[in-house]
Amino acid sequence: MSHSSRSTSSPFGTLVDRSLEAGVIGSFTRIGPSIRSRTAHWVAPKPTPGRVVVVTGASSGLGKEAALELAALECHVIIVGRNQARLDAVAANITASGGSVAIEQADLADLNQTVALADRLSSSYDAIDVLINNAGALLASHTTTPQGFETTLAVHLLSPFVLTTRLASVMEQADQSKVITMTSGGMYSEAFDLAHLEMDPTSYKGSVAYARAKRAQVVLNLAWQTHELPHHRTFCAVHPGWTATPGISESLPIFQKVMGPLLRSPKQGVDTLVWLATQAPGEPQGGQLWLDREPRSLYRLKKTRVNEHTLARQGEDLLAYLAHVTSSYLG
Ligand SMILES: NC(=O)c1ccc[n+]([C@@H]2O[C@H](COP(=O)([O-])OP(=O)(O)OC[C@H]3O[C@@H](n4cnc5c(N)ncnc54)[C@H](OP(=O)(O)O)[C@@H]3O)[C@@H](O)[C@H]2O)c1
Repeated sequence: MSHSSRSTSSPFGTLVDRSLEAGVIGSFTRIGPSIRSRTAHWVAPKPTPGRVVVVTGASSGLGKEAALELAALECHVIIVGRNQARLDAVAANITASGGSVAIEQADLADLNQTVALADRLSSSYDAIDVLINNAGALLASHTTTPQGFETTLAVHLLSPFVLTTRLASVMEQADQSKVITMTSGGMYSEAFDLAHLEMDPTSYKGSVAYARAKRAQVVLNLAWQTHELPHHRTFCAVHPGWTATPGISESLPIFQKVMGPLLRSPKQGVDTLVWLATQAPGEPQGGQLWLDREPRSLYRLKKTRVNEHTLARQGEDLLAYLAHVTSSYLG
């Protein structure tokens, strides 16, 4: 990786960063970016005029904040969500500030709507520079999609897989485009488990289904990078730490109440996402998991750790599984 794609950190900054990363609270809360931004001398992302960026889940929380910031950095932002009124409000905010925005309404739990979205984008744009797969939710109970898949699996893996696959041609028209996946630090609690990725109603636990899907997103990110031709696309996974969003207050109200004062602001939560999206084409090196402008370990617990060989095999198995179950939606 070239030095320009990393934050500028002194030996002291590196020491502080590693000390924070050793403990979840220091790293994931607002303490992380507050200290790291100073010790590593973060600079504001540079404007990238005309860069075409798709943001899923842009009607709320982190996706909304990322869309607003990327529009302010002169990107043309395509905001994707389910709720037309919320999307209209985000778009109005962007246009009022002189930004460039387009709205795409789609329920990404429904693979037919994902396909229709990909086809509309492919026919409307000559090139797409950045795809941000951000839409996601921690669901309290087991639900299924119109195609009969468990919803957590569909929203975090099946739909991003179909969208990313179907947008390959239009993304290859850009000067080395990027696919950025919003995962979660929750993934550290679960090992990759393809056999139990889709939980059945009897054993369903929302937090486990969510953590497994988020772990699988990181495995997929690396597998995608391994398979993509080097000059085509760069794949990055990022997690936002713990950030105050409507999603957190709805799905984890007690966590939100207890951790409230320490939660990151949405701006802190998307700092690395926005920074990655505005890096030069081909930067940074793909296949990695990022937090606070540094690549991070994929593991925190021994029970989840595998060696490089097993990780590569997990990626192959996951790609084969996703290609199989979504085959009729890949075009
Ligand atoms: N906040 C955190 O601390 C945190 C931590 C780790 C990871 N994350 C991840 O960050 C991402 C954003 O979460 P957030 O905290 O910003 O939550 P949020 O405020 O609830 O926003 C979630 C976004 O995803 C969209 N979405 C959910 N299901 C969808 C579907 N089926 N089709 C289309 N859009 C859908 C929502 O659209 P609607 O407006 O239609 O609901 C909304 O725009 C998620 O992937 C989440 O897992 C967040």
